[in-house]
Amino acid sequence: MNAALKHLNRFSTPAKALNDPAPDDAQLAEILQVAMSAPDHGRLYPYRFITIRGDARYRLSEIFVQATRQREPDVDAAYLAKQREKPLRSPLIVVVVASLVESEKIPEIEQMLSAGAAAHNVLLASNALGYGSIWLTGANAYDDYVRSKLGLAENERIVGFIFLGTPQLDIPPRKLPPVEDYLSNWE
Ligand SMILES: Cc1cc2nc3c(=O)[nH]c(=O)nc-3n(C[C@H](O)[C@H](O)[C@H](O)COP(=O)(O)O)c2cc1C
Repeated sequence: MNAALKHLNRFSTPAKALNDPAPDDAQLAEILQVAMSAPDHGRLYPYRFITIRGDARYRLSEIFVQATRQREPDVDAAYLAKQREKPLRSPLIVVVVASLVESEKIPEIEQMLSAGAAAHNVLLASNALGYGSIWLTGANAYDDYVRSKLGLAENERIVGFIFLGTPQLDIPPRKLPPVEDYLSNWE
């Protein structure tokens, strides 16, 4: 592969295989600055980032457990334990939040796409620095209780929880299908 494209050949690391060290503050600032180069119709910057690490992950665990109980009152203990464990798998979580503005010119879908592009840039930039990452959502990402506990406003959505850290294993790059299967030339 062309050397210039090497770092763009991204693949995810399972959250459980992401260990200390996570990107430090200076690296994280660089990663998030790169994230902000996402294409953005109208220069709205319709997103923001929330970092969660250390003991705060345990507080997020409790929020996930509470949210799950509210969604599924009859949930079994094993499933709750799984929810509790989720935020503890990696040393750092970046929550990418879409902050949608009302605009006649720029529809919500375009703002969500910008926020998604910013999230993907977090993955690319962290991989380029040698860190592993994965973009996860699940029911907690769309849960109003979780959203309010994380301080999101009415106009905000969780685009994803990006788990970051040093990959524990040599994760083999994923094998992609050939692009020819997804390409046509319109004439
Ligand atoms: C918006 C979005 C949400 C995702 N949520 C989850 C999730 O909750 N659980 C999961 O296992 N993978 C989820 N994924 C997929 C992983 O991030 C990852 O892409 C997948 O494991 C394949 O690995 P790869 O990126 O190396 O191809 C999500 C991806 C996107 C774009």
